[in-house]
Amino acid sequence: MKRIDIIAGARPNFMKIAPIIKALEVRKAQGGELDYRLIHTGQHYDPRMSGNFFSQLGIPLPHINLEIGSGSQAEQTAAIMVRYEQVLLEQRSDLCLVVGDVNSTMACAITAQKCGVPVAHVEGGIRSGDWSMPEEINRMVTDSISNWFFTTSASANKALRSTGVREGQIHFVGNTMIDTLLANMDRLKAPDFWADQRLVAGQYFVATLHRPSNVDDASGFTRLLAAIGEASRGLPVVFPVHPRTAKTLREVDGIPSNFRLVDPQPYLEFNFLVRHSKAVITDSGGITEEATVMGVPCITLRDSTERPETVEQGTNELIGTNPDNVKGVLDKLFSGLWKKGAIPELWDGHTGERIVEVLERIL
Ligand code: UD1
Repeated sequence: MKRIDIIAGARPNFMKIAPIIKALEVRKAQGGELDYRLIHTGQHYDPRMSGNFFSQLGIPLPHINLEIGSGSQAEQTAAIMVRYEQVLLEQRSDLCLVVGDVNSTMACAITAQKCGVPVAHVEGGIRSGDWSMPEEINRMVTDSISNWFFTTSASANKALRSTGVREGQIHFVGNTMIDTLLANMDRLKAPDFWADQRLVAGQYFVATLHRPSNVDDASGFTRLLAAIGEASRGLPVVFPVHPRTAKTLREVDGIPSNFRLVDPQPYLEFNFLVRHSKAVITDSGGITEEATVMGVPCITLRDSTERPETVEQGTNELIGTNPDNVKGVLDKLFSGLWKKGAIPELWDGHTGERIVEVLERIL
């Protein structure tokens, strides 16, 4: 029996590991030779950012929690490395599987590789080109020391080839985040506040903002919120507030009256809100993929994206971070001219199974 360490640390990791674990469990029950150890780094620790996702998505409790908690970029990365190294020194696994681009991804990839444990990166190869995002640094470092890459798109494959990665290391398997979405589409449910807030399908927006470039400066954030408030023509803007955003929000002068501030939502409620919204306004990457698959218009407040297929094929449009750009794009939405979009290749709900097939061959 060979064993894989599956690493998860922050909210966007949880939906990516769920289908891989499910596929591993299915193969184990059929007599497969692969076992796993689930390691939560504890980067996200409060129930709204972590525990809720485990219970809703049926992810087993982690075998090990490194409990690193909050800290600066370097503090988090260092704490994860120190504690994961101890884990590996006590008991090595045969492979370390990391997903996405958070600090936990990079920290565990470095640690594993230095302990002689090979690394596979799920969602390898995507690039925004924006080095001011910690996630971009995490992607580049992780990819530069990974042995195998599970990719979501042709652009990711191209980026990896351009850095000298060999064809045999790249496995174009699709998108595990979309596996989770498709598996849960029939379970999505309205949040408790749906009725109280008198929300009506197609007659409200969902907004999520947490990137430092949008939320860390209170005056810029105030202008952005005002622009969204004005251009949304009085429709409610449901705004689940990320903990990072909550800090600046306390300093914001005048939150527009049509904003409905709510806690970070559990998975099933959040995607229910997105599915029935008029459009999503976001600076997340993963949400642009989910909106594309649900055919919901998506407006991204960033200058670049590591997921170009959501723009070229999907429902996503990038408008940058300047508040002056909000009105024009919302006018276009209200005029009914938004693109319909198509679903990218292999975003079909079977990526977890394809990953496990490859892992069985590799190991
Ligand atoms: C991290 C990821 C980002 C991802 C985002 C999703 C990195 C570099 N960034 O950014 O890619 O899109 O998560 O949420 O890894 N906090 C809590 N409770 C928690 C977790 C965090 O209150 O459970 C607070 C922290 O104390 C900190 C802030 O939220 O002040 C930000 O958390 P952190 O993990 O540092 O980065 P994110 O901005 O969440």
